Amino acid sequence: MRLLVTGGAGFIGANFVHAVVREHPEATVTVLDALTYAGSAEALDPVADDITLVRGDVSDTELVNALVSESDAVAHFAAETHVDNALADPEPFLRANVIGTFAVLEAVRRHGVRLHHVSTDEVYGDLPLDDGSRFTEATPYNPSSPYSATKAAADMLVRAWVRSYGVRATISNCSNNYGPYQHVEKFIPRQITNVLSGRRPKLYGTGANVRDWIHVDDHNRAVWLILERGTIGRTYLIGANGERDNLSVMRTLLRLMGRDPDDFDHVTDRVGHDLRYAIDPSLLHDELHWAPKHTDFESGLEETIDWYRSNESWWRPLKDGVEANYAERGQ
Ligand SMILES: NC(=O)c1ccc[n+]([C@@H]2O[C@H](COP(=O)([O-])OP(=O)(O)OC[C@H]3O[C@@H](n4cnc5c(N)ncnc54)[C@H](O)[C@@H]3O)[C@@H](O)[C@H]2O)c1
Repeated sequence: MRLLVTGGAGFIGANFVHAVVREHPEATVTVLDALTYAGSAEALDPVADDITLVRGDVSDTELVNALVSESDAVAHFAAETHVDNALADPEPFLRANVIGTFAVLEAVRRHGVRLHHVSTDEVYGDLPLDDGSRFTEATPYNPSSPYSATKAAADMLVRAWVRSYGVRATISNCSNNYGPYQHVEKFIPRQITNVLSGRRPKLYGTGANVRDWIHVDDHNRAVWLILERGTIGRTYLIGANGERDNLSVMRTLLRLMGRDPDDFDHVTDRVGHDLRYAIDPSLLHDELHWAPKHTDFESGLEETIDWYRSNESWWRPLKDGVEANYAERGQ
């Protein structure tokens, strides 16, 4: 299979490319990535000899058309992804997430190529903190932030291209990922690298907000399965029953790093901060027999902490700039 991976130099995309090279040597992988501040060619160094990396924008229709014409399938990860950045400046999110997905859809339509579109559970908005409800494939879209609104728009385009043009596409909406190569602007790596660089960890508000954590490798195994065996036109929710409030995650991280669990600062909460996300992954279990392998969140966190300890040269150059941005926002 000739596989085009958009956004393959980002956190989830790079882990996906590593897994495909490791587990599916029959696949030929081309990565299309704009290498924005969030993309990292170094994240692909371990597989550099096994793949082709093309630097370019996913909204560049000519480039996307040419790359898709030489592919059998596309795994579409490329996106602007950080909610705080979307709140500060939504324009790049419209371009990458909406126009970029449009460019991919037009190219796969023209060349009859299979598409898997990677999306987020944030398109469903948020849930009450403690009523036990979970998102399903039937939950109505109700995005809260400019980030989730652009991802929702992209999902809608994919659904329309399946129905109107018979494009062979699937969609997955996954919960919050953690693992190696996640940008230090995101919650878990930010706290780990704050401790490792002698800064105090920072918690938005009271930390009551709940996220449903999944290891990036479990997400990516699901993406591969859907690409291989998913039903065209279907949406799959990916989650690993990993609900934790942010305060608990912070305290666990500090304990695992040998610190006082209460040794952190509370900072200004994110505006419109979604309260709780939770995924019902039954369809994925029942239809594709997927189950997460990383079921022990603490050991997943420990491995992730070890990875950041051992790969300081990867994250250190990003750290000061990220913290300067947060400081400007009072966070
Ligand atoms: N991180 C999560 O917890 C999570 C959860 C569910 C879904 N997702 C989705 O998974 C996908 C990947 O997320 P991530 O966390 O790896 O993001 P990331 O920000 O780490 O990586 C995004 C990648 O896309 C590239 N990119 C951005 N704009 C581009 C453009 N215009 N053209 C080409 N490349 C561009 C960046 O350079 C980067 O390599 C996204 O679609 C995101 O919505 C993420």
